[in-house]
Amino acid sequence: MNDSIFHNQDLITPSYVYDQSIISKVLDCLEQLKTNTGLISLYSMKSACMFDVMACIKPGVSGFSCSSLFEVLLAKELLDEDQTIHIATPGYRNDEWDRLIGLCDFITLNSINQWKHFADKINKKASCGIRINPELSFVKDKRYDPCRPDSKLGVTLQQLAEANTRQKLDWKSVEGVHIHNNCESVDFNDLKISIEHVMSNLSQYRLELKWINLGGGYLFNNQSDLTPLEETVNQLVNNNNLIVYFEPGKAITGNAGHLVSSVIDLIEYKNKTLAVLDTTVNHMPEVFEYQYQPKVMNAVKQGGYNYHLVGCSCLSGDLFGDYFFDEPLEIGSRIVFENVGAYMQVKANMFNGINLPSTYLFDGNENYKLIKQHDYKSFRSRL
Ligand SMILES: Cc1ncc(COP(=O)(O)O)c(C=O)c1O
Repeated sequence: MNDSIFHNQDLITPSYVYDQSIISKVLDCLEQLKTNTGLISLYSMKSACMFDVMACIKPGVSGFSCSSLFEVLLAKELLDEDQTIHIATPGYRNDEWDRLIGLCDFITLNSINQWKHFADKINKKASCGIRINPELSFVKDKRYDPCRPDSKLGVTLQQLAEANTRQKLDWKSVEGVHIHNNCESVDFNDLKISIEHVMSNLSQYRLELKWINLGGGYLFNNQSDLTPLEETVNQLVNNNNLIVYFEPGKAITGNAGHLVSSVIDLIEYKNKTLAVLDTTVNHMPEVFEYQYQPKVMNAVKQGGYNYHLVGCSCLSGDLFGDYFFDEPLEIGSRIVFENVGAYMQVKANMFNGINLPSTYLFDGNENYKLIKQHDYKSFRSRL
């Protein structure tokens, strides 16, 4: 990507800049999967939730997958009549249920208890699914692992077997299964193994399944090896006669998003130079939560000029880390964090009263459009 756009002085900083052309490439990949296998793609709204960004994604998917009533309400506003709304959450509440039923096309229940409590109430107004935890962990960091020990996410195969023998489960009410057991995996063999494991176990029950949702948790693009995914979907479509859904989030929005910031101060400290930015880890909360160092455009491995990039909040740990550049930084220099389009904007906060980044949509050539700008009213309205 040509970085000159980020140095345009008209561009307000800090800002998230979403590159529409990167989103389109992933959507093309999903379209190809649909042609090859029949896989139906949804967009997992939790990864990035902005009107114009979702408007770019909408034509390339068959619907949105949501995690809460508010996401469902937003999906309803944005989607066309023939697109579908799916929800899966451990957090169904009695006081939201009636509204959800009227809005969702697919509702995935997360536990045996939810199954007993809500399945009857769905009563064909939506298609009811159950989330299965295959207890196959591929993620090292437990905080991201849907199959961590004692996971709250989904029914294990053992819980299902126990409930089946001890309680009278109404299998007829369940039309689908949902499996999401990975995070940032680049290997669709994980998915293949998981689905084969679950499907062979479920074959002992008299299920009349219509669909399966493969969840998200995979990073891919047109360079990825999609063979194990295609093989899995072909198997599910041809041998199990299922409609297969896939609901990626970060694969669509992650690489498309940049955070552009400006240096607002330079502080010499012993033999280090700190570059204070007009952004903060609170605009990229996963940097702090998971203590990882985000990639910075034009930073080099060694040599040149060394800076400790720091955020502008009062938190002493508001730090991005050490970076090297070929050219010295000055007040006003632009620092561009790459691949931060997912799980950042949706988690950003106004700690210290620091304004949230603006958002731009970039068309991949030279054109960018300001789609969101916050001000004091945004800060005040949440107090
Ligand atoms: C049930 C479910 N589906 C889809 C996703 C999207 O995952 P990703 O953004 O990693 O593709 C998540 C993420 O947590 C999820 O919990």
